[in-house]
Amino acid sequence: MPAAHGTGGSASIELAAPDDWHVHLRDDELLAAVAPITAMTFRYALVMPNLVPPICTTAAAEAYRRRILDCAGPDARPDFTPIMALYLNGDLDPDDFLTGVDTGVVHAAKYYPAGSTTNSERGGDSLGGFIDVLERMAERAIPLLVHAEATNPEIDVYDRERHFLDTELRPVVERLPELRVTVEHLSTRAGVDFVLDNESVRGSITPHHLACDRSDLLANGLRPDLYCKPIINSADDRRALVAAATSGSDRFFLGTDSAPHPASDKYGANARPGIFNAPFAIPVVAEVFNNAGALERLEAFTSVNGCRHYGFERASDRIRLTRTESGSDAPVADSVITANGDRVTIFGVAEARLWTVSALTEAPAG
Ligand code: DOR
Ligand code: ZN
Repeated sequence: MPAAHGTGGSASIELAAPDDWHVHLRDDELLAAVAPITAMTFRYALVMPNLVPPICTTAAAEAYRRRILDCAGPDARPDFTPIMALYLNGDLDPDDFLTGVDTGVVHAAKYYPAGSTTNSERGGDSLGGFIDVLERMAERAIPLLVHAEATNPEIDVYDRERHFLDTELRPVVERLPELRVTVEHLSTRAGVDFVLDNESVRGSITPHHLACDRSDLLANGLRPDLYCKPIINSADDRRALVAAATSGSDRFFLGTDSAPHPASDKYGANARPGIFNAPFAIPVVAEVFNNAGALERLEAFTSVNGCRHYGFERASDRIRLTRTESGSDAPVADSVITANGDRVTIFGVAEARLWTVSALTEAPAG
């Protein structure tokens, strides 16, 4: 992990309980290993549908929601709620999708450009190709979640977010200005500017894009644990993301993009993109905000802005985050092991040694 660095010192702050507006919980043994962690840490979790095969129907979303709740474990918050999205591709039946929204099972659609990232093979070739569905979403104020990365191999990997936004998302936003869009896991200054330039657009930001730049990934030994999509970008891009998250603007909120992969998929010749950060996402963002001198704006980012965008009340119970100058000697796990023996490395161990998170009041029943 990148060392926690910066202003340091001791600090303490109280927040409404946080939500995670972008998480991968997977299925089977991996779901069983990671769902309890998200369920004890976050109240709402907007769950990504990029399973194999992807979640394209309301029935599949409802079945997956139940599997998640079955795995949430005894320490889950009583009000832990998976918020489901459907995978937007040619298999999505718009009538089924809208029925899913009307019945409260489904809340959003997620667009992946085919080939952009893990389990995106069944995604789309052109966002504009889905304009009929997008029009119906705009009419009903249903959020569109976008993995904003060009897939044209001629575009440099560091420029893919900007390129997608300029060539694919901008025309859609101009044609449907009332469509509510989240540019997921913002990774560049261009992405931040795109959100600020477009009234109907919001941006989620991950702990790892806030805490690391590409030198952390590449400069001191290649770090597969920091490999994700969109790729962690330059120091200037990271500064823009930190400035956006800590600005107090309600257009930015936390989506961890916690994306567990077994070690066997992370450390070979074809390392898969994805960073498992759910256990220590809150310590990592607390450290970023503390280093920026903006701890008093952390609550808006973790617990308020996303609720406002997705149409929920913020949590009524509160947590306390405490930073201890010398750190803690208490053991901090650096991985989880699944029931079939796979190891998944956890991001944010250094920050977890500095920050303790405690519940101040009991979470209400769901
Ligand atoms: O790094 C990533 N991993 N980015 C994504 O968009 C997908 C995710 C995954 O599912 O592993
Ligand atoms: Zn993701």
